[in-house]
Amino acid sequence: MKIFFSSFLTVLIFLQPIFSAAQRKTVDQRVDSVLRLMTLEEKIGQLNQYNDDWNATGPVTLDSTKKEQVLQGQVGSLLNCVGTLRTRTWQNIAMQSRLKIPLLFGQDVIHGYKTTFPIPLAEACSWDMDAIQLSARTAATEASASGINWTFAPMVDIARDPRWGRVMEGAGEDPYLGSKIAYARVKGFQGNKLGEVNSLMACAKHYAAYGAAIGGRDYNSVDMSDRLLWEVYLPPFKAAVEAGAATFMNSFNDINGVPATGNKYLQRDILKGKWNFKGFVVSDWGSIGEMINHGNVKNEYEAALSAITAGSDMDMESRCYKNSLPQLIKDKKISAALIDDAVKRILRKKFELGLFDDPYKFCNAEREQAALNDPAHTKIAREMAAKSIVLLKNENELLPLSKNIKTIAFIGPLVKAKKQNKGFWDVEVPGVDSNFIVSQWEGLQNKFGSNSNLLYAKGCDIEGDDKSGFAEAVNVAMQADVVILSIGERRDMSGEAKSRSNINIPGVQEDLLKELLATGKPVVVLINAGRPLVFNYTAEHAPAILYTWWLGSEAGNAIADVLFGPALGGINPSAKLPISFPRSVGQIPVYYSHFNTGRPATDDSNRNYNSSYNDLSIFPKYEFGYGLSYTSFQYSDLTLSKKKMKVNEPIEVSLRITNTGKYDGEEIVQLYLRDKVGSIVRPVQELKDFAKVKLRSGESKTIRFTIDKEKLSFYNQQLQWVAEPGDFDLMFGASSRDIRVKDSFELLN
Ligand code: NOJ
Repeated sequence: MKIFFSSFLTVLIFLQPIFSAAQRKTVDQRVDSVLRLMTLEEKIGQLNQYNDDWNATGPVTLDSTKKEQVLQGQVGSLLNCVGTLRTRTWQNIAMQSRLKIPLLFGQDVIHGYKTTFPIPLAEACSWDMDAIQLSARTAATEASASGINWTFAPMVDIARDPRWGRVMEGAGEDPYLGSKIAYARVKGFQGNKLGEVNSLMACAKHYAAYGAAIGGRDYNSVDMSDRLLWEVYLPPFKAAVEAGAATFMNSFNDINGVPATGNKYLQRDILKGKWNFKGFVVSDWGSIGEMINHGNVKNEYEAALSAITAGSDMDMESRCYKNSLPQLIKDKKISAALIDDAVKRILRKKFELGLFDDPYKFCNAEREQAALNDPAHTKIAREMAAKSIVLLKNENELLPLSKNIKTIAFIGPLVKAKKQNKGFWDVEVPGVDSNFIVSQWEGLQNKFGSNSNLLYAKGCDIEGDDKSGFAEAVNVAMQADVVILSIGERRDMSGEAKSRSNINIPGVQEDLLKELLATGKPVVVLINAGRPLVFNYTAEHAPAILYTWWLGSEAGNAIADVLFGPALGGINPSAKLPISFPRSVGQIPVYYSHFNTGRPATDDSNRNYNSSYNDLSIFPKYEFGYGLSYTSFQYSDLTLSKKKMKVNEPIEVSLRITNTGKYDGEEIVQLYLRDKVGSIVRPVQELKDFAKVKLRSGESKTIRFTIDKEKLSFYNQQLQWVAEPGDFDLMFGASSRDIRVKDSFELLN
């Protein structure tokens, strides 16, 4: 035995240099060594992604041969396959294939996994990059413990049309804020680096301009100038590359007549060329084959040719690559090198994730249990949710509610709903009760129940015209000191393929409010939605409004935290809108960073041959950057280090913010610039920086910003990024309209 051991040790010592030489191999060398072993069929297999059988996020193609195909090495990745058990089962099959190349498991982990976070648009209201990053980090910690190694998030599409159902999934209308959030989310999902056991690959989507679908109709065409593309729609994607996003997903739309999936300019020239992106691009569900419907290619063969040439590396569910790439090679329409490039990009990520070292790395049932039951995640979700709630109105300081209130009537179709609070993209995690959610009712009971009396009436449904529950609601309201009314959309009224032409609060919910207001009781309205809705009656008549979006697992607790505020250990709201709220559908698109036009309309009193509507205000109902607090803030002492700036000598700016109200609170101070004269006309305002400042009641702080060349630059007609000399306005505001202090400066030649 001894002899055996010592000779074994000798062999080990002898082999040591060989092992470490192998370890020292770069990822690219390891990728090449696998590639050399692969047949063409196996290479094309890596470019092929299928949906698992039990859940679908797109139109299903029935295919009973998937298992066989995985065994043959003809599949590179699966989506909608979750849980350690299920992913391990599929990975086992892949491990019986000739080359044992591990599968990637992709999933729409959009706003949480087991613990559901607020929908992305709601989180964007926090303007809190650390919190947003932590939310993505927490989702990644859960999902990566549950078999997943790739999330199809973040969606970084700029969206200026609330009819578009997917407005809920992004960060709103602004490229600057959108870029910051894109960066934070990628960092959050991917963690320190790919390869760590709790890191997911991020996927910036949908590349590109998907959010500009004409008429807000999902999957619709996009027609846009280069200027708009570069200035507004591309920056968040660029930020995602800078954050190290491992993958990109292209989009369903055509842009200026060329489907994004077959768009070489977007994928090869910009993404993989100019931006030097080293990851891989996955198509959207079936989008390669859908180029036939677009009318840009004749058949699957041409679709595959177009997509692979344009730089789409992986085919999600269309099967065009699998069916047509072999023939395209045979016909010499594409080179083997083109396929190799796509395969290498995918294999590189599999190596970086560590899957070649341990294909079951993300399939540890114990780790899954621990991650899915970590109480710290609940706390993070609650804090994130409270930071996402926007206080739109608060007459006579109705909020925060006094802890001495005796009776509250909590009314509305969403009060006792559980799953609704999840919003559109939730993941059905095996073995997890989908009611793992604190309803609004439960939240209020947790906070207030022991103090006194909580009454309930449903009042009406979300949709429909049935008013038979009104009488009971009014009766309950009459018995209370204050009424809280929870109304809005159903969670699946926004999301993918959920575009709407009517975005008013549905059904008779505003009629119910009318009746409740007639009781003379103070009414606080909670509006739950996945998009900016139109609710002019509520906006004008309700004394207090909280826009609560969809807040996830901890919705109820977070809402109660904000309703009662700091007096009951809760939160003073600080969120600000990342998107303008229109007064009516007729006002869409309405966004703050518009051009001045030759005949600007500056207020609603003058409609004399200027750029206005004859029957509608020129202003949105609630503008970009808007959101109230229980306290108030004063802006003062704006100081510029100089008024004439040389191009490489930034201006230092400071201003003082004072909390003049009676509560501690946080203010999101927004820095806007206007370039007065440009070779291309410039918007009347552009967000260029912001700071979230925490101030105790009565406290003042001086905050500082730097204005450098970067902040003054834009894409000129030749698409060069330039700062042109001339005059600039500098504005600091509590919203894009509520400008508190301003000055101007000049950029010298
Ligand atoms: C289609 C959606 O557009 C995309 O965002 C999603 O990631 C895929 N389906 C997969 O579910």
